[in-house]
Amino acid sequence: MNLSVPRRTLAATAFALAGLLTAGAPAATAAPSAPSAPAAALAAPDIPLAGVKAHLTEFQSIATANGGNRAHGRPGYKASVDYVKAKLDAAGFTTSVQQFTYNGTTGYNLIADWPGGDLNRTVMAGAHLDSVSSGAGINDNGSGSAAVLETALAVSRAQLKPTKHLRFGWWGAEELGLVGSRQYVNSLPTTERSKISGYLNFDMIGSPNPGYFVYDDDPAIEQTFKDYFAALGVPTEIETEGDGRSDHASFKNVGIPVGGLFTGASRTKTSAQAQKWGGTAGQAFDRCYHSSCDTTSNINDTALDRNSDAVAHAIWALSAGTTVPPGDFFENAADVAVPDAGAAVTSTVTVSGRTGNAPAALKVGVDIKHTWRGDLVIDLVAPDGTAYRLKNSSSSDSADNVITTYTVDASTEAANGAWKLRVQDVARYDTGYIDSWRLTF
Ligand code: TRP
Ligand code: ZN
Ligand code: CA
Repeated sequence: MNLSVPRRTLAATAFALAGLLTAGAPAATAAPSAPSAPAAALAAPDIPLAGVKAHLTEFQSIATANGGNRAHGRPGYKASVDYVKAKLDAAGFTTSVQQFTYNGTTGYNLIADWPGGDLNRTVMAGAHLDSVSSGAGINDNGSGSAAVLETALAVSRAQLKPTKHLRFGWWGAEELGLVGSRQYVNSLPTTERSKISGYLNFDMIGSPNPGYFVYDDDPAIEQTFKDYFAALGVPTEIETEGDGRSDHASFKNVGIPVGGLFTGASRTKTSAQAQKWGGTAGQAFDRCYHSSCDTTSNINDTALDRNSDAVAHAIWALSAGTTVPPGDFFENAADVAVPDAGAAVTSTVTVSGRTGNAPAALKVGVDIKHTWRGDLVIDLVAPDGTAYRLKNSSSSDSADNVITTYTVDASTEAANGAWKLRVQDVARYDTGYIDSWRLTF
């Protein structure tokens, strides 16, 4: 019997009353009223392709006006940073520019925080903003930079209020060895790194002869992208053209979950791939990779459009969390006998439909009937096995019963899963049973 259904506050009141009236009766209780459904995440907006392409046109103009590139240490790079930053500032982001020195020249990362959300659960998306010195870098990586920028602007247009905090990053000197992104993660104290729930990377997402590749890293992020493309009816493949070849590697190296999208670089499209995606078999996904022909002509609009929408879908879905109605609780009201001076017994409450971690003030309501509560040692055991001591035994604690609510900082534990109340009677003579217990979010 699974009694671990979430209930609303009203039902909780009704249930507590029913519990009083039926005290001592067997625990075959019917769950009162309907469980509350988790709040559904709002659907992401369509990202306008015209908006994304307008940014690419601007990157092209910047390159053209600055010796044909937007490379680290060249004026076209800083001009690209200034362009993106101005858009974000006007849209209400809190931006900062992180400077670093590489190869004797100054490099820049641009970071943009969307105010609000749970800073302990930050979702990040990023793209490298630099090009190689041989070209304007419109597919590599104006495409990722523009899609992330247009998604950030869509967050602002929607005035999104995500459960989690949102941060966007544009990295310098990726083409010189992931320099900017590594600089960024190295600048974060360990505690700040641990607050990044995931990093999504977008590098080359508009290749002219495109494939639809999803990074095979964090399973939840990967699934979010796969769900999007499945709904579109577009088959995907796992990205294999060089794991660790873009900025997600800097995050992954310090233990941050990562994911991302890619439409292919210099590798050749097979005939099987051309059959499922269209395009030209026997030709590179991007024949202009790292070349002077990586201009605004080097973009497949359909790929850029789909991938830009995929960026937004992932940002909306992964930052939404689940709104937990206050007073919702998960309960197990089945009686469990606690053997006298015997082994520990447990009662399980299965939490589902939640996103992210349990609260910092998780309420653990305990109702144990016992004739000498001093005999009892009580723990809450998280789904991963971590035990939180709620109560120690004490020979001087001579009262009956443990009917109380404990508050546990469970913020490092995933909310979903099988939670256990573990009760052990450590002294002879008096006995009792777990009557019911509940977790309130
Ligand atoms: N900017 C990357 C590079 O020049 C492009 C790239 C190649 C890439 N292979 C990749 C990006 C695989 C993501 C995944 O190396
Ligand atoms: Zn590159
Ligand atoms: Ca006892």
